[in-house]
Amino acid sequence: MASKFTYDPYRPHAYYRHYDDPVSPDTTSAGDRDDDARSESTSGTPAPSVYSFRSSVDGKVLLREAQGRKFNTQNDLYFLPADEQEYARLDMQHRMHLKGIDGLYIRKDDVRKVLAPDSGAQKAILDVGCGTGAWAIGMAEEFPHAQVVGIDLAPCTSRPLPDNCRLEFDDVTLGMSHYHNCFDLIHLRCVGNGVKDYPALIEDLSKCLRLGGILLIVEADLQVLNSHKEPIEPAFRPGKPNQSWVARICFEAYNTMKARGSSMDCGRQLLSWLKNEPLLKGEEYQKLHFPIGPWEKNRKDEKRAAHLEEVGELCRRSMKEFSRSVRPLLISEGYFPEIVDKIIRCIDDELSTLSVHTYTQWHYFSAQKRKPSA
Ligand SMILES: C[S@@+](CC[C@H](N)C(=O)[O-])C[C@H]1O[C@@H](n2cnc3c(N)ncnc32)[C@H](O)[C@@H]1O
Repeated sequence: MASKFTYDPYRPHAYYRHYDDPVSPDTTSAGDRDDDARSESTSGTPAPSVYSFRSSVDGKVLLREAQGRKFNTQNDLYFLPADEQEYARLDMQHRMHLKGIDGLYIRKDDVRKVLAPDSGAQKAILDVGCGTGAWAIGMAEEFPHAQVVGIDLAPCTSRPLPDNCRLEFDDVTLGMSHYHNCFDLIHLRCVGNGVKDYPALIEDLSKCLRLGGILLIVEADLQVLNSHKEPIEPAFRPGKPNQSWVARICFEAYNTMKARGSSMDCGRQLLSWLKNEPLLKGEEYQKLHFPIGPWEKNRKDEKRAAHLEEVGELCRRSMKEFSRSVRPLLISEGYFPEIVDKIIRCIDDELSTLSVHTYTQWHYFSAQKRKPSA
């Protein structure tokens, strides 16, 4: 799809927060500092101590290498790559969600209402854990009057951004008080792996919403299901029917990430956490299942069949790549590389033959910031 904005190669594409917190490394000399970046922000979304990203300087400090892949250096908990290969996987997953929910967000009427231009403060959107920036860019294009900020441990810095969108290097768990009361819409998709205390994050993000603002959260479930939507057994030996190697890598990834402290069960607990947050109201929840591969047929409805095929194909390709993304994590936790590589080969085989029919599960949530009662 042709982009609606002009690419200015001289415009900084990403920034990183450098305030008084000791966690952000100070790599910029006075000469590197880009004061224009700060004055450029006309959004009503403050950009505290914002510096433009210089890939030659900051790339070395904000990214590290392991097992031939690049990773963020800010947060040890999140150990999935931040490189072009991973961004390509996230692109596929993003397109899967676009298809799956027919757009960038659920609760469409409420979101459009809250983002409709008015004479008050400029509308503002935050995407937490923005990754490639695809969602943030999509929102900036759909709502050109709004300012969109994406934050991530390692956002993609190689893509052009619309003028009303900026991406920041940041760890959301370090505290977001600089953004309290700044946003009409906040979106998080698949960040649980980089978060230890999710209820505390919900509280902090609720404070970042303006009154009536909307919080949208999407989290994956690493429990793979069979074609009857029941949990499928992970495969441990080749040739066993009704077992899945995709389920196996998800099982190993889940256990490893959970043992390290990631919020791997957040999808199942989020609704009660949202309901317990006094600043929020109107919580909504829906679970979607995406077929892994184009195996689910709907013979009665051609349009639906084409849709399922497309979603299934995107899900299959992103799942195949996910096995590569978790490889460095598993090896760093003591798995033998040969075993991990064998699992990956079995996954490739399972996904190319579609020998078992499986689904991934996705949890979608929304809630709204309460207006104070009179
Ligand atoms: C699986 S990716 C999803 C990216 C994007 N939300 C999407 O759906 O395409 C998770 C992203 O969240 C980011 N992330 C994880 N923990 C984070 C944290 N504590 N603060 C900021 N970003 C975080 C990661 O760096 C990664 O880019």
